[in-house]
Amino acid sequence: MSTESTVSTPQTPVEKTEKPIANSKTVAADKQGTGKQATADSVVSTVKTLAVDIGGSGVKALLLNTEGQAIGERDRIKTPKPATPDAVMAVILQLVNNQRANGSDFERVSVGFPGVVRRGVVYTAVNLHPDWQGYDLASQLSTKVGTPVRVANDADLQGMGAISGEGVELVVTLGTGFGTALFTDGHLVPNTEIAHHRFRKGQTYEEQLGRAALKKAGAKSWNSRLGKAIDSLSVAFNFDRLYIGGGEVKHIDIALPENVIVISNLYGLLGGIKLWEQK
Ligand code: BGC
Repeated sequence: MSTESTVSTPQTPVEKTEKPIANSKTVAADKQGTGKQATADSVVSTVKTLAVDIGGSGVKALLLNTEGQAIGERDRIKTPKPATPDAVMAVILQLVNNQRANGSDFERVSVGFPGVVRRGVVYTAVNLHPDWQGYDLASQLSTKVGTPVRVANDADLQGMGAISGEGVELVVTLGTGFGTALFTDGHLVPNTEIAHHRFRKGQTYEEQLGRAALKKAGAKSWNSRLGKAIDSLSVAFNFDRLYIGGGEVKHIDIALPENVIVISNLYGLLGGIKLWEQK
């Protein structure tokens, strides 16, 4: 099967404008003056979520409606170098200000972060900067933006948006780093980090398949390595489906097995809505 025919694009009717209706926490106005409060059913929720995806080369933002569909266009700013917490936070705040300057406000923020994240705190950030270790991204950003913020590993978040929720599903993202997310019947095993496990020739998956490896080895070798990685991951996880996303999927030119699906990179933002469905 060709790569092209397996690309799964999200169902995201991009809405330019939305009618302002009540927030889920507000009670609908008593227009008829009946003195009765609106029932829960008649209150239409319009909570908007700003989804942010921090990548090694770009920080992206997209506004999502209550159903997780995109509202407007994706915004992107280059990842600063060095990508310290202060520098990246400044970029996120710029993206937030861009939204607000457009008249698009939101009630909460979801962030996909390229490292291990537990309860909003960063543990690793191999492709950004060592200063991220121990940084409480969720709290810091929430204070600065003034809304609740949830943060998850970028591949975990992308997977949440893309999976079917049935069986064992593995997600791999091919970008600056090599992201992975594992789900069983829709339940996430967070922070799997297969990236840094030994793969072949004494190198890890990320060393063989990250962006630096693609540049160094060239697309042909990188594709051959990708085929080997799919075989290896298949033996290790016996997945029902493997989804492959990330900015570098455009370089894939090998035939993929039936149960391997190339997904749009937009899921790295669209998955942001799912963070709010978790406890
Ligand atoms: C990080 C992962 C991340 C992946 C993709 C890896 O280097 O360790 O946490 O998901 O890159 O960004």
